Amino acid sequence: MTKIAIITGATGGIGKEFVKQISVRDDIDEIWAVGRNEDKLAAICSEYKAVPVQTDLTDGGIEVIQTRLNESKSDVRLLVNNAGIAYMGMFADMDPQQIDKFVQINCSAPAKLMNVVLPFMKEGSGIINLSSASSFQPNPYLAMYSASKIYLKNLSRAVNIELKSRGITVTSSCPGWVDTELLPRTKDGQTIKYTGMISAEKVVTRALKDNAKGKDMSVPGFFAKYFRFYSKVTPTYIVMNMWSNSVRKYV
Ligand SMILES: NC(=O)c1ccc[n+]([C@@H]2O[C@H](COP(=O)([O-])OP(=O)(O)OC[C@H]3O[C@@H](n4cnc5c(N)ncnc54)[C@H](OP(=O)(O)O)[C@@H]3O)[C@@H](O)[C@H]2O)c1
Repeated sequence: MTKIAIITGATGGIGKEFVKQISVRDDIDEIWAVGRNEDKLAAICSEYKAVPVQTDLTDGGIEVIQTRLNESKSDVRLLVNNAGIAYMGMFADMDPQQIDKFVQINCSAPAKLMNVVLPFMKEGSGIINLSSASSFQPNPYLAMYSASKIYLKNLSRAVNIELKSRGITVTSSCPGWVDTELLPRTKDGQTIKYTGMISAEKVVTRALKDNAKGKDMSVPGFFAKYFRFYSKVTPTYIVMNMWSNSVRKYV
């Protein structure tokens, strides 16, 4: 049986790094790289010998993956729910379609994909879900984003307990700022400063190690670790005020 890894958002910074690091592992025969951008997907798949799955996870993508799994009857050793979108700004400026899209890609897609992939997983396999340090507290000006990441973190940790008896680990990766194209670099001509920004390589290395160790959380880098501790010991209104003061000027 072919041992596969499925990675969503494979055309972006963190997803591409997952493809790169998993491509050198000898316990995985095949990587299914999921993304919408045809050119980027083709380039990544040719560089790392991955199988392209060009699909939109909010528009039939889950069914495409489910059909492929049913046909191939593969042994999924690793699922990485990495695809996601962000929006920094006032919640009131979003429209209902944007809100729908947000929930579909950041919340429904990873939940559905875990659900359709689990029948193809055996003992010792793993799931990594990309949450964020934004899940440690509510974040004004990133309101939908932080709410979606709290959802994904809590879902992951709860399902991890449910899957203990099957020997499957679900890890919620919670990085702070990561150097990828997800983050806008300027606002009205001023450079946006991202405190403690780390590389995608660091996020992925840590997440793969923590998943292999059976951990339900992966918090890479000093900034995210500090933010997690600070958010636990400080009243939430103080954390939210501090956060608001640091990002308001960019909104
Ligand atoms: N960068 C950060 O600071 C940071 C911090 C914490 C957590 N994260 C999380 O890490 C994950 C990856 O982020 P990144 O920084 O690598 O972002 P990125 O470079 O913007 O990549 C996002 C990926 O998601 C895919 N995607 C978006 N909508 C999709 C859809 N409808 N269907 C299928 N794929 C879709 C994109 O692929 P296509 O455009 O080809 O579809 C792209 O590959 C996200 O979940 C993000 O929330 C990022």
